[in-house]
Amino acid sequence: MASNKSLLILPGDGIGPEAMGEVRRIVNWMEDNRAVSFDIDEDLVGGSSIDAHGIPVTDEVVEKAMNVDAVLLGAVGGPKWDNLDFSIKPERGLLRLRKDLELFANLRPAVCFDALVDASSLKPELVSGLDIMIVRELTGGVYFGEPRGIEDLGNGIRRGVNTQVYTTPEIQRVARVAFELAKKRDNRVCSSEKANVMESGVLWREEVQKIHDTEFPEVELSHMYADAAAMELVRKPKQFDVIVTDNLFGDILSDCAAMLTGSLGMLPSASLGDVDDSGRRKALYEPVHGSAPDISGKNIANPIATILSYAMALRYSFDMGTEADLVETAVQKVLASGIRTGDIMSAGMTQVSTTEMGNAIIRELDKANG
Ligand code: NAD
Ligand code: IPM
Ligand code: MN
Repeated sequence: MASNKSLLILPGDGIGPEAMGEVRRIVNWMEDNRAVSFDIDEDLVGGSSIDAHGIPVTDEVVEKAMNVDAVLLGAVGGPKWDNLDFSIKPERGLLRLRKDLELFANLRPAVCFDALVDASSLKPELVSGLDIMIVRELTGGVYFGEPRGIEDLGNGIRRGVNTQVYTTPEIQRVARVAFELAKKRDNRVCSSEKANVMESGVLWREEVQKIHDTEFPEVELSHMYADAAAMELVRKPKQFDVIVTDNLFGDILSDCAAMLTGSLGMLPSASLGDVDDSGRRKALYEPVHGSAPDISGKNIANPIATILSYAMALRYSFDMGTEADLVETAVQKVLASGIRTGDIMSAGMTQVSTTEMGNAIIRELDKANG
């Protein structure tokens, strides 16, 4: 099956390129063994773009991202660029991509593989079988609200300002994504905000409820304050099916959910926009973790979150569910065989490097392919 589907790979910084190296090998494997071929382009984002061009993402890369079927991103950031002016920090490159491509729905699935039940910081019975989908609003809220900035008030006093703001269409479109997903899962949505202290939270709750009542009455909807949701996530995580929440709360709750699965190194994500006139949905796939400066350059990072992000791309952007299943099953088999990177290591298991983890996954793909 020849294909002219296009993929833009942006490895980024720190462990981003290390994990992406393993994805590239699986992409090649798919081409050799499943005749799944993409037009692949690779470019810079984050600190690596700052080093080459002085800015965290160029117009050219944004343009490329706009015109491909899917973008795959590693991670951005690191101490080398931490003291740069805020407007050109590595993270701004990623935020610009999300905003310019209007990737408003960030799907962050937190699934605990059976083999990793012991790697979680929670008791095995609390996480065994865990399968949560966090839907994080990604292009609004306090991340992008105006006014923002740091002001000098005189007398040595400064003021830092950010604005939490949501419009009704912004809330409605992400709520629809959450309800649609729930229908294909356990049919339950928990919407999370701080309606007790924030007007934007009151609006959030009202709009999610309205979309529910008018369009998805068959889905079970509950509302939970975000602080309580953080507590419930670690108290009794399996009570959740789909959680829909704003940009900032979604950032925090998804890191929290990641640890339920054993490690941040396990969690993939998909950032999706609307379907355009040509039937294409803009999409960017990236792990939930960052560039992990503390372990970068050592070939010890866990590449699974990035590999599973590629699997999400196969499923959501290319309608290649069989190939996505192949990748996910290979990961599951490798974990079941006791092979672990350091972040998910436990007694009696075999600790391997980033590349060895890639090797093991490719071995499982070979086996599954006969
Ligand atoms: P981080 O996610 O990079 O790391 C947090 C901890 O988790 C570290 O101890 C790290 O070693 C560990 N970890 C993360 N991914 C791992 C993996 N794949 N395998 C093994 N261990 C892993 O978060 P941070 O340290 O707060 O941020 C570092 C930099 O990354 C910052 O510049 C931050 O802005 C950036 N960041 C980028 C993204 C992104 O590109 N999407 C996401 C989060 C943070
Ligand atoms: C994430 C990251 C980003 C965020 C940063 C790097 C801009 O933490 O994707 O979770 O805060 O959204
Ligand atoms: Mn984050």
